[in-house]
Amino acid sequence: MPNVRNRFLNAIEFRDVYLAYGDRVILNHVSFNVRFGESKIVMGGSGTGKSTICRLVLGLIKPDDGQIFVDGEDITKMREEELMQVRQKIGMVFQEGALFDSLSVFDNIAYRLREQRRPEDEIEQVVTRMLRFVDLEQALDKMPNQLSGGMRRRVGIARALVGSPKIILYDEPTAGLDPITARTINELALKLRDLEDVSSIFVTHRLQDIEVLANEYVVRDDRGNLVFKKEDDTLCLINTEFLMLKDGHIIFSGSDE
Ligand SMILES: Nc1ncnc2c1ncn2[C@@H]1O[C@H](COP(=O)(O)OP(=O)(O)O)[C@@H](O)[C@H]1O
Ligand SMILES: [Mg+2]
Repeated sequence: MPNVRNRFLNAIEFRDVYLAYGDRVILNHVSFNVRFGESKIVMGGSGTGKSTICRLVLGLIKPDDGQIFVDGEDITKMREEELMQVRQKIGMVFQEGALFDSLSVFDNIAYRLREQRRPEDEIEQVVTRMLRFVDLEQALDKMPNQLSGGMRRRVGIARALVGSPKIILYDEPTAGLDPITARTINELALKLRDLEDVSSIFVTHRLQDIEVLANEYVVRDDRGNLVFKKEDDTLCLINTEFLMLKDGHIIFSGSDE
């Protein structure tokens, strides 16, 4: 009954979260939530705590005060074994792609499945499906150093999608990419939001990311082709909201109006 649950629960919720390193306050009693199916764009200058938010959601660090809920569960006091379960629901896309240089594209994406000792034919199926999703089927035998920056980023996304996580954290996934390559990353995020109902936090400084995620959506036409559309003024279906951080506080939160 996922739909019934979804109406009552948030994918992610920060409740009065406080975190400081020494006397440097990073998050000063911050509260926000990410609804199911929503993309939350997180903006803010360098060092304002954007990556820290991702690390908190993954339970890699704990807040000094307040609570963090993931898929309805309070993760704040969880032990490592329980956190591992929660992390299975989350895909993480890092700025650099963070691939293993000594492994091929295929093996990078297969990594988590091999760790879980899945049968090889299942691994092949999943990896092929992920590569098709990011439009990189032709690159499966390549090594990371043979790929362009944008391709590496897409492999990083394919790897994050293994296990079909319902929550994805993108930490500046388009930083340093040219506009056309960045667009391919934006389109993947739209596909995940609009076709797979993924909830996400999307950290970015980039105006282009914000424009695409706030104004475009994707549907499948009768033939199964993807069609990217721009929102017209009368329509407001797009499931993207914003959060802007400064000096430990949220200084803006809401939609793009
Ligand atoms: N382990 C740590 N110890 C001390 N300070 C840290 C630690 N991790 C992060 N910080 C500081 O916390 C602030 C927020 O970091 P981060 O969330 O990575 O910023 P950004 O918004 O650029 O992603 C930065 O000033 C950073 O230097
Ligand atoms: Mg960061």
